[in-house]
Amino acid sequence: MKITKTSISKLESTDFSNLPFGTVFSDHMLTCNFKHGKWGDPEVLPYGPISIAPGAKVLHYGQSVFEGMKAFKNSNNEVLLFRKEENYKRINRSAVRLSIPEIPEDIFMNGLDELLSLDNEWCKADEGYSLYIRPFIFASSEGVKASASEEYTFMIITSPSTKYYAGEMNLVVEDHYTRASKGGVGFVKAAGNYAASFYPTKKANANGFQQVIWTDSVEHKYIEESGTMNIWFRIGDKLITPELSDSILGGITRDSVLQLAKYNGIEVEERRILVDEIVEAYKSSNLKEAFGTGTAVTVNPIDSITLGDDKMRITTVVDSFALKLKQQLQGIQKGKTEDIFSWNSKVPVKV
Ligand SMILES: Cc1ncc(COP(=O)(O)O)c(C=O)c1O
Repeated sequence: MKITKTSISKLESTDFSNLPFGTVFSDHMLTCNFKHGKWGDPEVLPYGPISIAPGAKVLHYGQSVFEGMKAFKNSNNEVLLFRKEENYKRINRSAVRLSIPEIPEDIFMNGLDELLSLDNEWCKADEGYSLYIRPFIFASSEGVKASASEEYTFMIITSPSTKYYAGEMNLVVEDHYTRASKGGVGFVKAAGNYAASFYPTKKANANGFQQVIWTDSVEHKYIEESGTMNIWFRIGDKLITPELSDSILGGITRDSVLQLAKYNGIEVEERRILVDEIVEAYKSSNLKEAFGTGTAVTVNPIDSITLGDDKMRITTVVDSFALKLKQQLQGIQKGKTEDIFSWNSKVPVKV
């Protein structure tokens, strides 16, 4: 793979004690172009601006998909990539739905290895640090005809991150706007899904909520997910989470938490969840916990859920499932506890 190293590393000038999520980028990036019906040779370059034609299709039709994944450094200074195969499969599911050619496995995997080996200093071993990895593909053909592009660009950029403290999580149930609909693209990471969520989220923010809880697009009766998290409830001692559908993104953290919960002997159900059911559970004091799961937050407790004028406050329980699952997940990711499900892969060290 062609590798051009940066002549001026930003490593020394980066303040690792102040890393607002996703705002600082490491020294290098990977890029690979699709032209004449095939993916070309990937290349690693210094991170920097790229040039794009004003007529590029992505700018007009949003034909673009992305991934979000993390690497962690263990106490032996080895970089561990968490469940990279799942992100690889998901970016290609997204690509297929957006009529984008799939990325060959060797380009994705070797690209990650080369990039992370080169920028491994950006992944700190200290507690709470990780390297957030953002692979993405966009339509780069020039032309404003509303049709699929013929050329694409695949890139990977990485961003050092510290413990994600989302602060209080006061959520509001969205009963008007919709994130995803039946037959749509909600089950994949299409860039436009996020663009469409910003306006309803901004309105919720103005009313003092950090995020909305998306409900089904037909009746707004069933709970789907929240922000960039899958959502979970503990009713009594049972965990429930919405079953996957074409309007819910199948989170890799969700799948990991499902496996961990079962491993811990916790009863888990994946099924449709009525908003009313959560209200009932709250009223009968059976709603013990609510939390979200996602790559950025791992497991994040929810403090309150508002439905119309009613706010359900969820107080912390002593034997929190969320806390236990979070600690176990983070322990595996960081290489501190046994990787019982073989989720990690080491990034080979190259000199
Ligand atoms: C809409 C949405 N739901 C859920 C998730 C959680 O997925 P994961 O656990 O793979 O990060 C994300 C983040 O990728 C997301 O964007």
